[in-house]
Amino acid sequence: MAIISSKKQPNDRDKASASSGELSVMVQSVPAGDTQSAKTTILQAEPEPEERSKLEEKIRPQSLHEYVGQKDLKDVLDIAIRAAKSRNEPLDHLLLYGPPGLGKTTMSLILAQEMGVKCKIASAPALERPRDIMGLLIGLQPGDVLFIDEIHRLAKVAEELLYPAMEDFRVDIPLGKGKSAKIQSLPLPPFTLVGATTRVGALTSPLRDRFGLIQRLRFYEIDELSQIVLRTAALLKMKLTTDGAEEVARRSRGTPRIANRLLKRVRDYAEVKSMRDIDRTIAAEALQLFNVDPCGLDWTDRRLLSFMIERHNGGPVGLETLAASTGEDAQTIEEVYEPYLMQIGYLSRTPRGRIATAAAWKHLGYTPPDNQLALLS
Ligand SMILES: Nc1ncnc2c1ncn2[C@@H]1O[C@H](COP(=O)(O)OP(=O)(O)OP(=O)(O)O)[C@@H](O)[C@H]1O
Ligand SMILES: [Mg+2]
Repeated sequence: MAIISSKKQPNDRDKASASSGELSVMVQSVPAGDTQSAKTTILQAEPEPEERSKLEEKIRPQSLHEYVGQKDLKDVLDIAIRAAKSRNEPLDHLLLYGPPGLGKTTMSLILAQEMGVKCKIASAPALERPRDIMGLLIGLQPGDVLFIDEIHRLAKVAEELLYPAMEDFRVDIPLGKGKSAKIQSLPLPPFTLVGATTRVGALTSPLRDRFGLIQRLRFYEIDELSQIVLRTAALLKMKLTTDGAEEVARRSRGTPRIANRLLKRVRDYAEVKSMRDIDRTIAAEALQLFNVDPCGLDWTDRRLLSFMIERHNGGPVGLETLAASTGEDAQTIEEVYEPYLMQIGYLSRTPRGRIATAAAWKHLGYTPPDNQLALLS
């Protein structure tokens, strides 16, 4: 089981080890020498091994003040933190949802920091046996934040043990088996559960309903990502101009993790080419090398859209067909690629399947057919 205290500045290592299935798929999907795949992975917002380094922890914001963007979320949490502090109570349970890399883990660490308590981190797939979650709950100190990542993947038994813990701060331990089994209830200190998920729809309603606060993280605006990139550049001691930062931001799919990752690639490029001040031109050249286009689309995005346009006249195309013909896993398409393509208005989900919009046709250099708009209605 993966637990780290906030004092140690936890990172996604726990998630990585606990859900190693997923992570290894991502890592192994880049065979040595497969440059095309290697290029595409820098745009996946999944944590990468490199990010487990101290450097990654250094660039993770440590306070609400440093946490850029997500204004609505920060306003809600600011009020909740102040109210809880004034009543000397823990924060209400909080569910954070949104695509990978938008700052869910970071926010839960900041919450613990702001409340002056510890944060214990666990990843749902690692809480397989009842004793895993029981151990975690029993070890809590008053006010602690318990962060459960990928909470939609919690086993049923673990989820059922969480219900009384969340509602009444108590854990029910079954003693014995069969008809003679008894339940022993142990009181727990008041604590805050922070759940994070990329798939809020996959949560059961009893679990979802036990969260007092349910907040969505949204994609970041270019100016917000520019601020993030400039902050990271300063920490990395890079000389980056404002327009250089904007160029990186524009290609980052609205995602801070990708922005920081692209910035590191730009840094490599500038170092190798012995360039000191990194401006728009250098950033664009570097990212072009990694096949990241000016809108942040990578090879896979373009392949998905061109498949829909060339083979299906823009769609509608079913998710499974898209997956089978592009070699991507359906869940990855749904959770990693589609949210951003929908956000920038290049793809639409309809009851009959996915449709590439007129903007996507134009971006890829095709002329949209006249009936394209009719397809969307
Ligand atoms: N609001 C922000 N301001 C500045 N940097 C941020 C912000 N949000 C995230 N980051 C940066 O992006 C990285 C990824 O964030 P984080 O690990 O919190 O994402 P996540 O939503 O938990 O992703 P996943 O769903 O994969 O677990 C962080 O290490 C941090 O450096
Ligand atoms: Mg996370």
